[in-house]
Amino acid sequence: MEKPKISILGIGYVGLCTAVGFASKGYNVIASTHDAEKAAKINKGIQPFHEPNLQKLLEETIQNGNLTCLTNQTEKAVLKTDLTFNAVGTPSRPDGSINLQFIETSTRDIGQALNQKRTYHVVVVKSTVVPGTTHDLVKPILEKESKKKCGSDFGLCMNPEFLRQGSAFEDTMHPDRVVIGEYDKKSGDTLENLYKHFYGKDIPPTIRTTLSTAELIKYASNSLLATKISFINTIANICEKIPGADVKIVATAMGLDKRIGPLFLNAGLGYGGSCFPKDVKALIAYSKNLGYRLELLESVENVNKTQPLKAIQFCKDQLGSLTGKKIAILGLAFKPDTDDMREARAIPIINQLIKEGANVTAYDPVAIPLAKTIFKNKIQYAASTIECLKNADCCILVTEWEEFKKLTPEDFIQNMKQPILIDGRRIYNPKEFSKKLKFAAIGLGS
Ligand code: UGA
Repeated sequence: MEKPKISILGIGYVGLCTAVGFASKGYNVIASTHDAEKAAKINKGIQPFHEPNLQKLLEETIQNGNLTCLTNQTEKAVLKTDLTFNAVGTPSRPDGSINLQFIETSTRDIGQALNQKRTYHVVVVKSTVVPGTTHDLVKPILEKESKKKCGSDFGLCMNPEFLRQGSAFEDTMHPDRVVIGEYDKKSGDTLENLYKHFYGKDIPPTIRTTLSTAELIKYASNSLLATKISFINTIANICEKIPGADVKIVATAMGLDKRIGPLFLNAGLGYGGSCFPKDVKALIAYSKNLGYRLELLESVENVNKTQPLKAIQFCKDQLGSLTGKKIAILGLAFKPDTDDMREARAIPIINQLIKEGANVTAYDPVAIPLAKTIFKNKIQYAASTIECLKNADCCILVTEWEEFKKLTPEDFIQNMKQPILIDGRRIYNPKEFSKKLKFAAIGLGS
């Protein structure tokens, strides 16, 4: 089979990983973005954000010509290819509902290009969109702009993405499942054949369904994962009131039950990032519109709102007033292996510390440049863990980077003014640490 040519609109985590994934297997991929700076970087083979295992393949695919990135040239990208993945962003509106503005404008551009196309083309929505969007918004725009009929003249699918930042490329190449929402059989067959060819014998279980079901699968998946996190954080909060209880052991034992599973049961300071907070909010707003109040997810959100502030309470329990106290923050990114600060739990924690009059010094292996755009000169930025700990009254571990896991009690004792450590991600052994320094941790009963 001749490899179809692929265009990708939007070059965030999903767009870029999909682009590099296909290009690395010999497909001809044309990406298009509105961001000229990003496109220039990509065309030089430089990844525009921190993401492990992507850089080398990006460089290779740019050099061998399999991948090119255009700026604002959707029409050219669509005309030169057979199938278009739309992976533009779908941010939140102030009320939490989804903002589909980029989907609308990019779909209009695709439609105008389709008007000039003489061959069959499949449009695939990869962005996270609420149920009904592909059928009720994308399809009519495509038909209006192209003056063609969906199904007979061009194809339409909804194909959600389940990659995690920090392991985004690995997840793209080895997903647990492929979900294909299809407008009609021909559209679905075309996309499934592409994936069959792409993954070969390793093709993951593939679910073919309606456009709306595919859209809902994405929201239901992210909402359940967020629910697992808020659930275990709730159990952590109970553990703290029970002498000798430890949420880590509770979670390990729970996870051995096959019906529960061990993943996404790490108690901590809550979930952040560009997906869970946004998607939970969007599903709540969408459901409210349908006349159904999603109380369960409202609670999930509420738990996540208060959870990071527990770090402040722990601090105050140890230090009393925080005015003038030096607090060391280890980790700023919303999770390890990314420089992304969107909805990072470090933000509410640091803002509250500043409000309480503390002097904050923070260190993160990669997120400091982005953090500077948020906190400006309201906090100090350290160049290393040890510099961050120097003379601190208390340290809060916010993001569980690998290098922080290697720290010993002596590192804290030798560098801090008073060795008080709050483990917000449960990476330290409580027995070892509480013997040698003042130690508090999420979900640990004292
Ligand atoms: C999440 C989903 O895991 C992906 O499947 C999905 O494709 C993606 O959103 C998306 O919608 O695009 P991501 O936000 O990159 O991926 O990262 P996660 O690994 O899911 O972590 C999200 C947040 O949950 C982080 O702040 C992390 O610290 C927190 N978390 C995760 C916990 O607090 N406890 C856990 O056990 C797991």
